[in-house]
Amino acid sequence: MTDQGKINREGAKPASLFERADATFGLGPVRAPVVPPVPPVPETLRRTAAPPPQPPAPPPVAQVAAPQTAEVPAPEAPKAVAFCGPFAAIDREHLRDGGLIVPEDAVTGLLEEFRIVKRELLADARAGGSAIARRILVCSPHPGEGKTYCATNLAIALAAERGLEVLLVDADVVKPSVTQRLGIEAEMGLMDALADPEILPESLVVKTDIDGLFVLPAGTATALDAEYLASARTGAVLDRLTQGAPDRIVIFDTPPALAASPAAELAQHVGQALLVVRADETSRAALEDAQQLLSACGDIKLLLNAARYSPSGRRFGSYGTKGK
Ligand SMILES: Nc1ncnc2c1ncn2[C@@H]1O[C@H](COP(=O)(O)OP(=O)(O)OP(=O)(O)O)[C@@H](O)[C@H]1O
Ligand SMILES: [Mg+2]
Repeated sequence: MTDQGKINREGAKPASLFERADATFGLGPVRAPVVPPVPPVPETLRRTAAPPPQPPAPPPVAQVAAPQTAEVPAPEAPKAVAFCGPFAAIDREHLRDGGLIVPEDAVTGLLEEFRIVKRELLADARAGGSAIARRILVCSPHPGEGKTYCATNLAIALAAERGLEVLLVDADVVKPSVTQRLGIEAEMGLMDALADPEILPESLVVKTDIDGLFVLPAGTATALDAEYLASARTGAVLDRLTQGAPDRIVIFDTPPALAASPAAELAQHVGQALLVVRADETSRAALEDAQQLLSACGDIKLLLNAARYSPSGRRFGSYGTKGK
């Protein structure tokens, strides 16, 4: 593996929401609303206006019963659903062979690198305060740039946080590989829950023997996968899996943005998108095209993966934020 390295934030500070809105809509700076002036009260009226006659005071009453008012019950906050799918043990040797983080092993440079990445994602997820802010899409422009590698390592690193539940969703319905990467077997998953409203998505979530790590496999592929992902059911399923669970983070592994539509569809349902790029392979044009396709997500972060050269020996060259 590599030496422990620090991942730098690079690039310009993203414009504020106001500045972005101004750039998009040309509204100019936000001004205080114009309030029409109140006409002054004429002097004569002010002097002559006497207080209106008061009705005689009622006799003192020893005790007055408070009037009975019907109490309107506050709307109940949605409760988190418990994941109740099958259990799967993860072979640690299999993780090691795949170059993935092994929770029980000594701290490695790889773990340190993903710890740094997760800190930032977690801080933004918590700052967002909503269920959508806690959903993170992992994507890249092209195949083979390390989406599954980064999504899986990130999920394992996040699961080590005390009290956090991490749901790794294999949304690469084109070429699913999360279960194979983790060495577990599961047939049904996301696409089954999207295709059949009778299926409860939480019943398909696999609980693993890595504390806090859960997996929703891609499930059964059909010719209509793109249509299912674009349907309103996707939002309903994701809401069900995340609502009422402030300590639950969802990581989506997706197909390449420039080759298939799922990443662009899912970008509408997440608070952050991690765009994985290969230092030596991904072109700027491809990066910009992918960024455009994910633009439904307002917070796109770049993760430079597998940089071949670095004086410090670090694996990830830089880590930056790209505004919408
Ligand atoms: N930083 C890295 N260090 C070592 N190996 C890596 C790194 N990033 C990716 N790999 C390896 O490169 C290969 C491709 O990575 P991965 O499967 O994660 O890419 P992907 O973007 O998910 O590909 P696809 O688009 O086909 O799903 C895998 O064998 C993975 O283990
Ligand atoms: Mg992949």
